[in-house]
Amino acid sequence: MENKQRENWGSRIGFLMAAAGSAVGLGNIWRFPYMAGENGGSAFILIYLAFALIIGISIMISEFAVGRRTELSAVGAYQSINRNWTFAGVLGVLSAFFIMGFYPVVGGWALAYILKSVTGLLSNSAAIGDAFGAFITNPIEPLIWMLVFLAMNIAIVAKGIAGGIEKAGKVLMPTLFVLLILIAARSVTLPGAGAGLDFLFKPDFSKVTGATYLAALGQAFFSLSLGMGCMITYGSYLGKSENLASNAFIVTVLDTSVALLAGIAIFPALFAFGMEPAVGAGLVFVVVPQIFAAMGGIGVLFSVIFFVALAVAALTSSVSLLEVVVAYLIDQRKWERKKSVYTAGGIMVVTGILASLSLGVMSGFTMFGVGVFDFFDILTDKIFLAIGGLLLAVFVGWFMDKKDLEDEITNGGTIKFGLFNIWYNLVKYVIPVAIAIVAVMGIMSIEQTGLMLFGLAVIVVLAIFSKKL
Ligand code: PFF
Repeated sequence: MENKQRENWGSRIGFLMAAAGSAVGLGNIWRFPYMAGENGGSAFILIYLAFALIIGISIMISEFAVGRRTELSAVGAYQSINRNWTFAGVLGVLSAFFIMGFYPVVGGWALAYILKSVTGLLSNSAAIGDAFGAFITNPIEPLIWMLVFLAMNIAIVAKGIAGGIEKAGKVLMPTLFVLLILIAARSVTLPGAGAGLDFLFKPDFSKVTGATYLAALGQAFFSLSLGMGCMITYGSYLGKSENLASNAFIVTVLDTSVALLAGIAIFPALFAFGMEPAVGAGLVFVVVPQIFAAMGGIGVLFSVIFFVALAVAALTSSVSLLEVVVAYLIDQRKWERKKSVYTAGGIMVVTGILASLSLGVMSGFTMFGVGVFDFFDILTDKIFLAIGGLLLAVFVGWFMDKKDLEDEITNGGTIKFGLFNIWYNLVKYVIPVAIAIVAVMGIMSIEQTGLMLFGLAVIVVLAIFSKKL
């Protein structure tokens, strides 16, 4: 390991806010509600909660431990412990690139909707659905917003860990939380809101299939920023006196609360206005503005608040994705931070443009039957993150020294972690088996089998060739 002083988080609360900022994002507010809506609501949510709280916390502790132990980002961390595992880190960097292929597109939509909220979007509630369709398929407008969103990312990450990411997270995260509580409070007090709460909290297992489990697992990893080395990278900047387990617990609970809060903000109002829960990826952008439109003048204010919150949440997450790639270039390629940020950001401009256009003028161009946007989305959410989490669990459980892990998690024996043995056995035995079962069941019941097999092939190819990287 090198001796040069590694960048560090400025303070404990700064780290927590940044890690929670990474976790809480479009995954919670845009994706979680529509996944819940498409997968029948409460049963999906229960499975999701079990995965997040058992698998999620355990994997997050593992990622923090690997990152802080090695003081390196994903690729270097794996490589410094066992060269044969370099590919697992490379898979993480690739996942970050792929997620950044579509994430800034949706981040750009959120920015656009802040403005649209005050420029007449809500004045004709019947036209909101068509307006969304016209907006995302327009060849120019969403591209501009996507580029604005990416530029914000580049500016923040170029400033470095404590300077940019941490400061942004500290201010923006608490704002988001308060905003969501306000909207949820409005939603549950609407007449007829009870049906939405039933949809969220009364389990109906009749619609559950293998695909539901895989969707819930992928969603848990996506939402908690796990399975791709992001929390390894953030952990690598973490001070030696921090309590890894309690940090992981707090981040997971915060993230899960925000997802539930987003559900409580959306579904009661949705049912109160007699709308359909399973509308898919347009849920936030189509249904929520309709809800606000029906509220009259005050709805404009709520809509602005909501889309500011969404854009803020997206930004604190996407900076962590960009940081995964940047940290790789800094640690492994020995590049300067600025050069790394501009190069990675430049590539993301290209993938973002392709993903955005794939919803409109380029919709005829498909790979394995899906457009560029869905290609990036499905490949990461359904395969790379879950397999990345499985690889991490196997690596920590079977290729790292148990004593080293105990030393790292208890800060050299100075703090207690009473659940160490439970955590260790979960990571070593239970989680790899659980993920493998869910992956097999899910892949068998998913529509895009070709894409799934392609994703698995990519991982195998990486495993064979990445020792050279
Ligand atoms: N957790 C983020 C969200 O819920 O929107 C997305 C994300 C960030 C996934 C960072 C993965 C990651 F490494």
